[in-house]
Amino acid sequence: MDNIRDIDEIKARIEEAVKDIKSSATMREIKMKFLGKAGEIPSLMKKLKDLPPEERPAMGKVINALREWAEGRFNEFEKMVKAAEMDERYQKEKIDVTLPGNRRKKGAYHPDTLIVDELVSVFAGMGFEIYEGREIETDYYNFTALNTPKDHPARDMQDTFYLGADYLLRTQTSAGQVHVMESKKPPIKILSPGKVYRPDDDATHSPMFSQMEGLVVDKGITLCDLKGMLDEFAKKIFGSGVKTRLRPSYFPFTEPSVEVDVSCFECGGKGCKLCKGTGWIEVLGAGMVNRAVLENCGIDPDEYTGFAFGMGIERIAMLKYGINNMKLLFEGDVRFSKQFRV
Ligand code: DAH
Repeated sequence: MDNIRDIDEIKARIEEAVKDIKSSATMREIKMKFLGKAGEIPSLMKKLKDLPPEERPAMGKVINALREWAEGRFNEFEKMVKAAEMDERYQKEKIDVTLPGNRRKKGAYHPDTLIVDELVSVFAGMGFEIYEGREIETDYYNFTALNTPKDHPARDMQDTFYLGADYLLRTQTSAGQVHVMESKKPPIKILSPGKVYRPDDDATHSPMFSQMEGLVVDKGITLCDLKGMLDEFAKKIFGSGVKTRLRPSYFPFTEPSVEVDVSCFECGGKGCKLCKGTGWIEVLGAGMVNRAVLENCGIDPDEYTGFAFGMGIERIAMLKYGINNMKLLFEGDVRFSKQFRV
């Protein structure tokens, strides 16, 4: 019986094929080869009709038994291969939850940004709008319209970077006042933060620094309004116990002009290193907008009055955070900025 030999031989080949199978894909292929529609075992079934009829039932049984055996064998191996594959995946995808995580490095807000944000929120609460001026200005906006014509001695107070004959890097955010007053009728209430430039460079000066300008123009604005607003600002920024005082000063674009001091928030006014023993710290310049400036901008000074103020952001940051060298603010070292996180 040729067929019986065939059967033993098929069994042997199945055992041989199955024993080093590594993946379920090859498993499927081999299973198809033996059990698929055109596979070896179904082909044996088809050959039954060539046998004499009396031999067919017995041979049919033998082939069926072979098929069942083969299915069982393949199932067994399939389980083993799948388990091995699962195992391999577990190994590959294993995570050690005790390993320290990869920290993502985070930046930090620059102290200037923190101060500007704080000032903006204090003044926005008083109804100020933000106006962002331009850093490249003409001589007219930076000086002349602000009552500082050529050869005016006050120009010496602000050394200037000129960009050719017509343009310069603004030395003060006050230049923005003129743009605002030219383009908008009172009531005006703006706050203008931005960068300014002067060729100074030492522990308390940098060629580029930031200022915050404020301007209020309306009917009946007085120095009292300025004082009241400054009291409010100083308390919010430096602490509720802080007082303000005005000292006479001079700026070409304000008349009268004042220098504004706050009582020392470090020693409470007794005198310390921060306030150099005086009990007071100078924080900004301010005054009533000069009639000449209002006129230059097409605003009638008999109908409207206004006050203006300007402060150095780095100066406020240094005072508030106890920073002793301005250079630290321009080095971009995140370890520095991180100390002032809000
Ligand atoms: N622009 C002045 C400066 O840079 C600061 C200043 C003083 C601004 C008085 C003002 C002001 O608006 O009224 O030194």
